[in-house]
Formats: sequence, C-alpha cells, structure tokens
Amino acid sequence: MSFSVVVIGTQWGDEGKGKVVDWLTQQAQGVVRFQGGHNAGHTLVIEGERSVLHLLPSGVLHEGVVSFLGNGMVVSLPDLLSEIDALLARGIPVDRRIRISEACQVLLPYHIALDQAREKRRGHAAIGTTGRGIGPAYEDKVARRGLRVVDLFTPQRLEAQLFELAEYHNFVLSRYYEQPEIDPKVVLADLVSLSERIQPWVCDVGAALAQMHADGQRLVFEGAQGAALDIDHGTYPFVTSSNTTAAQAASGTGLGPGYLEHILGVTKAYATRVGSGPFPTELLEGAGPVLAERGQERGATTGRPRRCGWLDVVALRHSVQVNSLTSLCLTKLDVLDVFETIKICTAYRHEGQVLLRAPIQVDHLNACVPIYEELPGWKSSTAGCCDWRALPEAAQRYIERIAELVGVPITLISTAPDREAFIVRSHPFQDAPSLTETVLDVCE
Ligand code: GDP
Ligand code: IMO
Ligand code: MG
Repeated sequence: MSFSVVVIGTQWGDEGKGKVVDWLTQQAQGVVRFQGGHNAGHTLVIEGERSVLHLLPSGVLHEGVVSFLGNGMVVSLPDLLSEIDALLARGIPVDRRIRISEACQVLLPYHIALDQAREKRRGHAAIGTTGRGIGPAYEDKVARRGLRVVDLFTPQRLEAQLFELAEYHNFVLSRYYEQPEIDPKVVLADLVSLSERIQPWVCDVGAALAQMHADGQRLVFEGAQGAALDIDHGTYPFVTSSNTTAAQAASGTGLGPGYLEHILGVTKAYATRVGSGPFPTELLEGAGPVLAERGQERGATTGRPRRCGWLDVVALRHSVQVNSLTSLCLTKLDVLDVFETIKICTAYRHEGQVLLRAPIQVDHLNACVPIYEELPGWKSSTAGCCDWRALPEAAQRYIERIAELVGVPITLISTAPDREAFIVRSHPFQDAPSLTETVLDVCE
C-alpha cells in the first residue's frame, strides 16, 4: 500500500536531510524535491564515498526509484546538467531516473547577477545568501513574469518572454546596480540548446506522483533548507525565498496535503546557521568552535564556515508546530561525544521576561538571551552506533529530554555521516499499511 514521508529541516538548514532522504528512499519508489534550488547542498556518504547534491533529489542514487523535481523549485539548467553529467561520469545512470515538472521556474543568469549585486550593495546588512539567484528567481515567479520549464518548448513565445524580462532586469542591473547587462540573445541560445537535453524528462509531476500513490507505491518528499529559513515562519528577512515547511510539500508537487502522511523533522543534536541573521544560542568561543571542528561545519554549497551553538528548543518547538511533525530524527549525536556537560536552550530572556516563543522582530530576537538547562555529557564514542541499548545512559537521557521538551518522539538517531549509521527506534514507513520485512528488520 502507498504511503508518503515528508522530510523537513527543523533548524537553519544542513541538519543532515540528504542522508535521511537517501536512507529512507531505500524503502520507496519515488522521491520528490518541492522547493528551493541549487542553494541547497545535501551530502550523502555511501561506503565512504561522498556525493553532494544541489538540485537532484537525495534519493537519486537508488536504482529503480523515480526522482522528481517538483513545480515549487527554481531550476538553473546549466547547474542541473552539470550535476547530472558528474553522476553520469561516475557511471550512475541518473538520466533514466529523473523527471522535471513542466511548471518549475527557470533560474536565469539575470537572477544570479541580481542576487550578487544586491548582496554587495547591502554591505554589512547583507543576508549572506548563497549567491545562486534564488531570491530574484522566486520574485519573478510571484511577479508573474518568470519563465517556466514548459515555456522552453514554445520557441516563438520564449523569445518574446525572455526579451521582455531581460529588458527589465538589464535596466535594474545597469542603472541601479551599475553592473554589466546580460545579452538575452546569448541567454536564449543557451536555453534552447540545454532544453533539448532536459526535454525527455519533462512531465506533469503531480499526475505522475498521484498515479504512483494510487498504484500503492511509497513516496519520499524532500525539503531543502529548514523551518527557520522559511519565508513566512523563519527569521525574516534573514531567510530564503521559499516556504521550506511541510505544507509546501503539497503545493510544490501538485499533490494535496491529504497525501502527506508522516512528517519527519530532522534536527541536529546542536544548532548551526550559515549566513547572517539572529541565532540566539550561537557560541563564538568555548563549545562553538569545538562543535564546528568535530561536526566539520562548512557549507556544502558555498564552503562558508557555519556558525555553531547549543540546541535551541524554542526554535524547535516552533518548527514542530509549523510543520505538524509526526516524529524527529536527531543527527550528529556523535559530535557531542566529548563534552563534560551539554546545554539545551529551553526559553529566552528578553527585557526581564521569560519567553517560550521567539519574538517576531529580528532586533528583539537578537536581544534575547538563552536560558539553558544543563545535562551531563557521556564522554565516550557514539560514532557509528546503531543500537539504542548500546548508547551511554547520558546520551539516552539527552535524547529523551529533547523529545519531552518538544512533545514529539525521536525515532531515528544518526551517529556518523555514512548511510547506514542510524539507530532506528521506529521506522517512518512502519505506519505504512503493508510493511516489508526489510523495514521491520531494521527496527529494534
Ligand atoms: P543537509 O543540507 O541537511 O542535507 O545537510 P548537509 O549535507 O549540508 O550537512 C550535513 C553534514 O553532516 C554532512 O557533511 C553530512 O555528511 C554530515 N552528517 C550527517 N549525519 C551525520 C552524523 O550523524 N554524524 C556526523 N558526524 N556527520 C553527519
Ligand atoms: P540545505 O538544503 C543552510 C541560507 C543562506 C542565507 C539564506 C538565504 O543544504 O539545508 P538564499 O541563497 O537561499 O537566498 O540564501 O539561506 N541557505 C541555507 N543555509 N542550508 C541550506 O540548504 C541553505 N539554503 C540557503 O546561507 O543565509
Ligand atoms: Mg546542506
């Protein structure tokens, strides 16, 4: 019987979603990305071999699984094709596994130039974007002037649409940002030649997913970024330009919310953030650099150092609410192995008041001081542990305390980068009406 699991980042991205999606897809027939673009960087480590995916769904390495790019995404064709070519060069036939929604927005060189020009102009007030053109591409979508994948296949209309869009963006680029214009004839020629390659993969993704669901197949919905970067529910304006929360799995694929059966939130055992913006539990010294070093906290897309701090339960509770999480996967537990004590932020102090919810204004959030609960560390290795009973008691207590504080069970625990390094207390596909033996086997 069909069943679907939505995988969502619950923090500021980079929680280890890619690893979770790759592992879950072993039990699925379809996997679909539903927002974002190549701002994402999802790392998979399979038998020691590392792959970083930006646009392709993190289940794409599995044979016999269909990998979809949903309509909620913004897609740069050159970046998509170079990602595909790199995998083909490694002998992985991803070209037979992928489908792209005809309603995806096409991310253009104008978007990249605008994103970078704007960030430069903002100076110290920059958002710290990935510089991939994500914001301007989504702006064109809501302004109703964006190009969709389907438009690439009607050449006469495409030229007119692109030239109109180019006139507008070149005006802003040259007159406002004093940057060079981008010749639409060159952009058009590139689009026409690249679109030939993607044509065989273009389809009505919603219809294809609905058919798979009706045929009793299992689907994984892959979120990029994280809830605290959501355009509506994140730390605005220091956010990305899409909805990164679970409801977008419906509008970004063409299936209604009734198809979303299990919402799995992924959270690191501590917190990180890349780019600017409020981060109440950030630690500039002491445990912060230790977390960064042990967790190898560098952006998978831009290589920028990630800011690090203790787990923020105020933010995590908000994430539980906006995503209606069914269960949680806690990743990178092993990174905490060395600490004498470990802190969890359970509330904020702001102007003499104790807050259990984050204030909406960034300057108020910046002024919040975390209130911590301190738990004993375990000072022994959990790296690669796959058995709950083998975890040190203090690690079990840390995990149970987080679950208690947020009111959601922690059913999966990741203890190393490798695909199989998971403690499975209950499998998200366990609720599926027909459970394969393999799913049952991995549960304790
Ligand atoms: P994503 O964007 O959410 O997919 O996460 P990223 O791939 O950007 O960053 C997560 C990083 O943590 C990657 O380098 C993973 O290989 C690594 N990772 C994932 N799970 C674990 C874990 O349990 N332990 C350790 N030490 N590393 C992990
Ligand atoms: P994954 O899917 C972490 C951050 C950027 C910046 C803000 C806006 O790997 O978790 P954008 O380029 O989207 O306009 O940048 O969002 N950001 C991410 N941070 N992980 C990501 O993706 C991110 N994608 C965007 O650093 O602060
Ligand atoms: Mg990432």
